[in-house]
Formats: sequence, C-alpha cells, structure tokens
Amino acid sequence: MNEINIIQPDDWHVHFRDNEILKLIAPETKKIFGKCIVMPNLVPPVVNSQKAKRYKKEIIDCIGDNLKIYLTLYLTENLTKSELLEAFFNNDIFAVKLYPLGATTNSNFGIKNIKKIMPILELMSLNKIPLLIHGEDVDPDIDIFDREKSFIDKYLTKIVKDFPELKITLEHITTKEAVDFVLSSNNNIVASITPHHLASDRNSMLVGGIKPHLYCLPILKRRKHRDALVKIATSGNKKFFLGTDSAPHLKHDKESECGCAGVFNTKYCMQTLTQLFDDKNCLNNLESFTSLNGTKHYQLPVNKKKIKLIKSDKPIKFNKFLKKNNIQIKNYIPDFQVFWSLKKN
Ligand code: DOR
Ligand code: ZN
Repeated sequence: MNEINIIQPDDWHVHFRDNEILKLIAPETKKIFGKCIVMPNLVPPVVNSQKAKRYKKEIIDCIGDNLKIYLTLYLTENLTKSELLEAFFNNDIFAVKLYPLGATTNSNFGIKNIKKIMPILELMSLNKIPLLIHGEDVDPDIDIFDREKSFIDKYLTKIVKDFPELKITLEHITTKEAVDFVLSSNNNIVASITPHHLASDRNSMLVGGIKPHLYCLPILKRRKHRDALVKIATSGNKKFFLGTDSAPHLKHDKESECGCAGVFNTKYCMQTLTQLFDDKNCLNNLESFTSLNGTKHYQLPVNKKKIKLIKSDKPIKFNKFLKKNNIQIKNYIPDFQVFWSLKKN
C-alpha cells in the first residue's frame, strides 16, 4: 500500500508551554491534529479556573479555535472540591492531571501524600471527570527504570480498586507491566503511548554516546518493553491511543550539565507512526490508535476531516530544528528511515 487516508488524528497529551515557545510550537500541532489535551505544568501551573481561562485565551489568541483544545487542571493537595467543580462545570478544564511531587518537569506542586486526594478522586468519579496520571513512584530508593511498575503496584492498583467508575488514563506508558495492567483492568482504565516510546528504547539514548534530546520521563526502557508497546499499539486495541507527550525545551536546556526531560516530536509524529505500523503490517489499525480510540474513551466527536499519507521510494528528509529568532527546539527523529510523508487533504 502506497497511500492511506485516515480520519484526522488527535493528540491526547501535549505540552504547549506559553509565550514565545507556545507561538513557535502550537501551530505545528494545529497543522496535523483535530483535538488535543493540553498539559498544565506551566510555571506557575494551571491550578484553577481563572488560570485555565487565561491559558486557553493565550492559546486561542495564538492559533485560533480550529484545533479543539481541552485543558487540564494541575492537581495539588490544596485543590478544593468547589474549585474543581467550578473549573469543570464552567468548561474551563476537561480533565485533572496528577503529577507525583517531583516526578518530572515542573511537578514541584504535585502530590506527596496520595491519601490526601482521595476525596477529590471520589468527587471526580461521581462527576465523571477524567483523571490523567503521570505514573511514576518518586521514592528515591526506587530505580528510575522501575518507577512506573512501582507506581502501579503501590498506588494505581488501589486507586482502581477504590474507584472502579473513575475514568483513568495512565499516560505515556513505557513498560510491559503497564500494558498488562491496563489490559487486566476494567474499561475505565486506558493508556496513552508516545511516538518516541514506540520508536526508541534506552539503547537509542545511551549507546554510542548519550543523546540528551531523547531524555524524557518516564525514561526510555529496554527493548522488550518497547516491543510490548508496539505490539499493543499496532493491535488497534481500543484501550490504547496516541498521546505524543510532545514536550519542547530549548536546545541549550537539553544539552546541559543537568538536561531537561522532554522530547518534541510533533513534526514527524504521524510519518514515524505510519512507518512503524507499516513495518508491522498493521496499517489498518493506525486510524484506531491515532484517531478513534482516544476520542471514544473521552466521548468526544470523531474528527470530520481526513489526512493522507503517501509512501515514496526515498526516505523523507528531516529538519533537525524548529527555529525562530534565538529559539531552537530539536525535532524528534527516529533512528530508522521513514518513507511516509503527510499530505494535506
Ligand atoms: O519528559 C517529560 N517532559 N515528561 C513529562 O512528564 C513532562 C515533560 C515536560 O513537561 O517537559
Ligand atoms: Zn507530558
């Protein structure tokens, strides 16, 4: 097959940032996707209705309202029930994001004591407010490669048991254990997967020299985990869908003594995914993963537009950077050739 047409995809996890970075990168998402869920880990974070309103306006002033944006509320231990209900029922936010304290970029207002948020989770369950989880155990005794599994064992299993009606997305999953956990849980438990966790593993990041632009959290894992992710994503299973976790940082903040976590993958996301699905002879499941499964889980309308991808004999050429004035952001580029390009319909 040399050409495919699929329903326009959605990105169920993206970091738009603010100010100049927002202006540079948000148009890239708009070029490709129909809908997106925008992360709240700004400095300072989006912790209430007022901040969400202001952020939504900043995004719409930048890219218009063609791309449907769904904001998230950054969960803190101080969030009150009335603040949450106000933000949700005013349509200022669509979902709540749980960051364990210190787990990742700008997570220092996150959750330290999970017991403290149980009443909020109960309220979310009653009101059908989706919970999006950065699932990593931040206990310093836990090895960084085991943090996802430990979070599932220590915390998520109990949350799922206590709140079976709560809609939970375990975000940017990276391990076979996470795949198995989602498969064995009820239908309210789903997972998003990033292009870079499907296309790269820890060898890509560490063999032959360290690649700071591949450093992200949860960190890339060993090959067998990547294989498990590819297997489930390409299967079309409706519990798994695309969330790019595209997370731009300035070039000099990545290439630093203490480099930031995050991979900016928006630009070549669909081309890379199509190549991966093609390699597995699963192009027929691409649309489920990128355009249907997430939208159905969140009970939102399926996009009306279609996109076309075309396969050529020659691999596509990647631009290394997205640049404007003195801002440089590295595009994620997989370490295999990609023969698929994206055409506008
Ligand atoms: O690699 C990551 N970068 N993981 C996250 O969870 C946050 C993100 C960011 O905001 O840079
Ligand atoms: Zn993220």
